[in-house]
Amino acid sequence: MVSPVTESTTAGASPRGGAGASAVNTRGVRLDEVGMTYVSEQGATDAIGSVTGTVVDGRFVSVIGPSGCGKTTLLDIVGGLMRPTRGRVSIDGDVVTGPRRDMAMVFQEDSTLHWRTVLQNVAFGLEVAGVPKRERLERCRAMIDLVGLSGFERHHPRQPSGGMKQRVALARALVLEPRILLMDEPFGALDAQTRQLRQGDLIGIWQRSPKTVIFVTHDVQEAVYLASRVAVMTARPGQIKTIVDIAIDKSDRHVAKSKAFVDAVDEIWGLVRDEAIKAQKARASP
Ligand SMILES: Nc1ncnc2c1ncn2[C@@H]1O[C@H](COP(=O)(O)OP(=O)(O)OP(=O)(O)O)[C@@H](O)[C@H]1O
Ligand SMILES: [Mg+2]
Repeated sequence: MVSPVTESTTAGASPRGGAGASAVNTRGVRLDEVGMTYVSEQGATDAIGSVTGTVVDGRFVSVIGPSGCGKTTLLDIVGGLMRPTRGRVSIDGDVVTGPRRDMAMVFQEDSTLHWRTVLQNVAFGLEVAGVPKRERLERCRAMIDLVGLSGFERHHPRQPSGGMKQRVALARALVLEPRILLMDEPFGALDAQTRQLRQGDLIGIWQRSPKTVIFVTHDVQEAVYLASRVAVMTARPGQIKTIVDIAIDKSDRHVAKSKAFVDAVDEIWGLVRDEAIKAQKARASP
């Protein structure tokens, strides 16, 4: 299950398979010793220690780790919403200095615009990009259909159920046709059944149009089900503890019962649990 770390090397990471080959020239998202220390009136918080690694173009990578280990911070840095205090992120060799047109984000918190209809929400980014109305409508309708919201175009996102808000957020990101999609616990607020359905939708969408995805989650099964590679983070200050390659058949409806799936979940759960205990102890100590 665990393969040598050939695409990603990490300062302080478990050396499973040894240090990886340099991926500096690989097309994709590259992190070089990225670190983040927040400074506020309460003092300094080391959110991210040092993260180095590459997400190769077209890969779906899940990031999992205990609460507060810096997952959202890392995603915001990759998305150009925040500059790291140490290191750098680059895409195809270009350093990220701000949001990019070929990247889209689905945020952890509800980011739908409540005063806009479903259609107007999905159209928002295209409006900002100056896409002509006719093309905008065509692309939005196609995307709304893809995420299963046809018929809800004129509804407001607060009207539909929680699952639909997530679909609006997903459609709003996908309609931009991003090469890179950053997703921060997009299904975190959903009940188990709705969550499974949305996971299936996402796999289908990715299979139809593969793109580079970095998907943050707390849910081990979700991480394994969706990704071809899972990065497990340590407790804060976050680093990549281990990379686990997932070799399961995503098109198999019963994959969650397969030995490969169950073994991967067990292994990752063990790694995450250790870090969650460390994080809990750190919070409990004065
Ligand atoms: N703006 C900020 N100022 C100061 N500290 C911050 C700020 N944002 C985050 N932090 C701290 O940095 C650490 C990492 O936060 P972050 O939100 O990235 O973690 P996370 O892994 O996404 O957590 P969760 O799993 O709960 O979403 C936490 O200790 C958090 O309190
Ligand atoms: Mg977070």
